[in-house]
Amino acid sequence: MRVLTIIPTYNEIEALPVTLARLRAAVPESDVLIADDNSPDGTGAWADQIAAEDSQVHVMHRKGKEGLGAAYIAGFRWGLERDYDVLVELDADGSHRPEDLPRLLAKVPQAHLVIGSRWVPGGSVVNWPVLRQLISRGGSLYARTLLGLGVRDITAGFRAFRRETLEAIDFDTIESVGYGFQVDMTFRVARLGFRIAEVPITFVERELGVSKMSGNIVVEAMLNVTRWGLAARWARLRGQERSSR
Ligand code: GDD
Ligand code: MN
Repeated sequence: MRVLTIIPTYNEIEALPVTLARLRAAVPESDVLIADDNSPDGTGAWADQIAAEDSQVHVMHRKGKEGLGAAYIAGFRWGLERDYDVLVELDADGSHRPEDLPRLLAKVPQAHLVIGSRWVPGGSVVNWPVLRQLISRGGSLYARTLLGLGVRDITAGFRAFRRETLEAIDFDTIESVGYGFQVDMTFRVARLGFRIAEVPITFVERELGVSKMSGNIVVEAMLNVTRWGLAARWARLRGQERSSR
């Protein structure tokens, strides 16, 4: 099983060194792709130095800040071209503990998509303000209900995809720029009839650097979810109408 862990970065010069060292220690067999959006703080240049010493570390330099979804799609394409069997998503800031990754990978034989979940029994969040917890839980509940999905942590960003799962998705049709990308991917994987498993994780709020989450990102995700949910319902209604005629 060849594993590629993709780490998207934008101004993570403080956090990335710690996360990368932990990942290399916890899962030494995984190759790493750092997808950097030309971080002004020099994250990409730092990553290049590490890649020069460690043949399992690769760096993708993107031209500017184009959002989490765009960085992951470019990373998936890179990994699929290079024949990896499993593609992992991991935040650079330490919120996703690399030490939890072996538990996600252990589930891959049973699921097409494995999600490191904060909102299943055994999962938790450390150091998140109550407001952020409410937004995440409320957002997950809203999306789950509207999209008719059983997944508890729909926006989670700690994931392991089998290559066949990603191969079945047409990346050109993904519109989400921000974190709504995670919802989009979950919805598509479910609609393809693939199996999704959630593994409890402890999400630890970052101690280094700053979050890139913004109001715009939340609004984009909410509007998209509403649109997709209504479109799916509408299509179902139309289908019923046709079959009763
Ligand atoms: N390349 C690139 N481009 N990376 C980005 C961009 C971007 O535009 N925006 C964010 N990132 C990277 C960050 O550098 C970090 O490694 C990771 O994406 C997560 O960003 P954070 O800013 O730390 O996200 P968060 O902690 O607020 O959000 C977490 O929870 C979300 C909602 O539950 C993440 O785990 C998200 O993936 C998750 O959707
Ligand atoms: Mn974070």
